[in-house]
Order: sequence, then structure tokens, then C-alpha cells
Amino acid sequence: MKSPGIYSELPDPLLPELIEKEGVPARFAGKIKHYLKIESTNDEARRAAEAGAPEGTVFLAEAQTRGRGKLGRSWYSKWGEGIYSTLLLRPAMKPAQASLITLLSAVAVGESLRRILAPLYAERMEIDLKWPNDVLLNGKKLCGILCEMSLGAEGIQFVLVGIGINVAQRRFPPGLDKTATSLYLETGAFFPRPKLVAALLERFDFWYQRLLEGDSGSIIAEWNRLSSYAAGREVIVDKGGDAVRGRTAGLSAAGALRLVLPDGSIEEIFSGEIL
Ligand code: BTN
Repeated sequence: MKSPGIYSELPDPLLPELIEKEGVPARFAGKIKHYLKIESTNDEARRAAEAGAPEGTVFLAEAQTRGRGKLGRSWYSKWGEGIYSTLLLRPAMKPAQASLITLLSAVAVGESLRRILAPLYAERMEIDLKWPNDVLLNGKKLCGILCEMSLGAEGIQFVLVGIGINVAQRRFPPGLDKTATSLYLETGAFFPRPKLVAALLERFDFWYQRLLEGDSGSIIAEWNRLSSYAAGREVIVDKGGDAVRGRTAGLSAAGALRLVLPDGSIEEIFSGEIL
């Protein structure tokens, strides 16, 4: 239930009409759902997808009570301070190909942030991608992406792209404050969230269309271009309990992280986390 008064304390509610006013690609137009407080936009999107919601439905919440992160972690989802969003996709492609959605999502976030920040801050803001899909601002995590795929006998039923962007947080809880940041904390300015969502949907649509047309090469190339982690970085990657150390050497055509191991051999890592 929405009462008009509820928005008085929110300068930039994520209302569909405010986002559409900025211009939204046809894929998403008229399909934006807004919630005040829900458990998780990914969980809401899953329910809707199972009930038949179409490709391009966007789920946005002002707050999440059980926002989920990668590896079973929670996602800090305070009221009105972030963008908590899930895009529902139904791509007609093989699951291996769809795994590139995780990379293109980070590219879309990185480019939309660049678009929003560039006129004000030019070169002073360092946007970076950390494999596979964290987006960093000045070295701290600004955005996390949780992609979930549902497979049936016929292949992909749907893909959920959960994107959390820290926008207006003035502080984070102890512990998280060492690694997380927000647009406000880095710039001292408040960025209207509807404008950011519109920019994100535009960039996402651009790169998703590339993938649908089979052009995964340009996604990989753009990811490599935007990421300081792509090549020549000494890293430790947690492959789910098993850590491996090496020097990054770009992404493979399938989106795996290529690591040069101490013995000179190359390992391709398909899932894991850079520590
Ligand atoms: C990560 O751990 O880096 C991924 C975080 C993903 C958070 C977003 S917020 C919107 C969507 N709903 C969720 O419950 N999680 C994702």
C-alpha cells in the first residue's frame, strides 16, 4: 500500500513514472514495478517469473529486509539510500552464453556511473570492475550484482540480474565501512536515483542486445577495458574454499578469468572471487 506522505522524506523515490520520464529502452518500458519494503527484489522477481512475468520486467525497492549478496551474504539495503533492483530476462540462448550476462551487467553499471559522474568530476573518480562483477569507486565497493539462472528441460527459463548500488549512504555499519562506499561518500553530492536507474537500463539494454546478437567479443573487450584487474594484477582467487594465486591475463572468450600461475601455466577460472 502506498500513501503519498510516505515520499515526503524521500527526495528521489524510485517511482516508475520518474524513471520513464528520463527515457527507458522499449524492453523495459511500462514494466517497472516499485515496492516500498520487500524482503529481496530477486525473490520477488523469481515469484513473478514463475507466474509468467515477461522479459524486461524491472523490480525496484526502497528497502529490502533480506537483501541477498553473493556466497550467502546479506546486502545492506537501507530505506531510500540505495538502488535495489532486479531485471528479469528470458534470453533464448545456451546457459554457457548467458553466463556473460554477469559481466555485461557490470559493464552497464560502470558505463552508467561514468555517464552520471563525468560531467561533474571528470577524471577524479576512478570506476573499476573487479572480476566477475563488482563495481568499485575509488577502490571501494559501490555496486554488487547477483545473477541467478533458472533452468528447465528446454533450457533457460529465466535469468534474474540483481543489482545493488550504494547511492546516498552517509555511513555503513562497522566492518562494512572498510570495504563499501556510496556515491555520496565519494563525492559529497546526492544523485537522483531515477536518473541513475534510467542510465543503467539504457546501458544494460545496449550490451544485452549485443549478447542476443551473438557479439560476446565486444562485451569481453569492454570489460577488459574498464577493469584494472583484467591484466597484470597479482591476485588471490577464492574458487569456493580453494584459493589460487597468480597474475591476471584477461578474460577468455567465455568470460573466465585467465590467471598465470607461479609455474607459468595458465588457469581459466569460471567462478570465484578475487580476495
Ligand atoms: C554481491 O554480494 O556483491 C551481490 C549483491 C547484490 C545485491 C542486490 S540488491 C537487489 C537484489 N536483491 C537482492 O536481494 N540482492 C540483489
